[in-house]
Amino acid sequence: MKEKLLSIKEAAMAALSAPDCDIEAIRVQYLGKKGELTAVLRGMGALTPEERPIIGQMANDVRAEIEEAIAKMGEAAKSALIEKKLREEKLDVTQPGIPVSVGHKHLLAKVQHDLEDIFIGMGFTIAEGPEVEYDYYNFQALNIPPDHPARDTQDTFYITDNILLRSQTSPVQARVMENTEPPIRIISPGRVYRSDAVDATHSPLFHQMEGLVVDKGITMGDLKGTLEIFARHLFGEDTKVRFRPHHFPFTEPSAEVDLSCFACGGKGCRLCKGEGWIEILGAGMVHPNVLRCCGIDPEVYSGFAFGLGVERAALLKYHIDDMRLLYENDVRFLSQF
Ligand code: DAH
Repeated sequence: MKEKLLSIKEAAMAALSAPDCDIEAIRVQYLGKKGELTAVLRGMGALTPEERPIIGQMANDVRAEIEEAIAKMGEAAKSALIEKKLREEKLDVTQPGIPVSVGHKHLLAKVQHDLEDIFIGMGFTIAEGPEVEYDYYNFQALNIPPDHPARDTQDTFYITDNILLRSQTSPVQARVMENTEPPIRIISPGRVYRSDAVDATHSPLFHQMEGLVVDKGITMGDLKGTLEIFARHLFGEDTKVRFRPHHFPFTEPSAEVDLSCFACGGKGCRLCKGEGWIEILGAGMVHPNVLRCCGIDPEVYSGFAFGLGVERAALLKYHIDDMRLLYENDVRFLSQF
């Protein structure tokens, strides 16, 4: 048995010294469960009690020696591989890196955030309301009863007879007034929906930003001053604001608000279609019916409100002539801003 063990050891060592030997195959052949060394150990039962510990010890030594040789070879193979890689793969640390393109806010988000910043700077806070809205808040609380002709201009998507996708951000006015004691000073940006076909100036989904101020002694002068500050911040110091009489059911008096054309300074150009003025938003003094409906006494409080289209502001500010460009998400277009 001793001879058998010695010959196993020699054979294993010889196999391991061969160039390009398969280390794993050698390990299985000599040390594996069905390997030669295991076969010897299985035969130990036939030995005398005196021989058994001697042969056992020897078998363990042979196993340890073969294992050690295999481990050494494994390490040698690993370091040879590293050597080879170091030799072949030279790193040029002076080579310029691959540029990573960094994204930025979408133009619409940027304009919305700029608008928010302007009003937050004047002490407004942001209020939010649901896009799936009750007919009550979208229309009735805003002095637009069922069958009022003003509903025709804001044809929207009805979910049930009294639930719809809001057609304007104005319902947030009513929601805020219902549960806030004046003074109130909020803006409310968000998505609105109308069943309009898509073209250069229409989309069934677009964004508005509502503004509302309610307090004692609020006048149309406060509205005009606030909008002047807004206009100067967004379109430049020289921008002038003009009010034209208009009608909205939820404000009295109501106005459409124009800005002096920031492209030509008011002389008349392609952007303002020769007018010198550009319409930017709707506004007015909150109608007493609306205040009353929302639990605010119009004898004590007054307020102003305004609503503007975020897309419209973006198109005007950046001289873009087709609203669809804002939604197509063509990076070649968006990366210009
Ligand atoms: N909600 C109106 C619209 O979508 C815009 C508007 C006009 C809002 C006058 C107002 C306002 O708050 O006072 O056409």
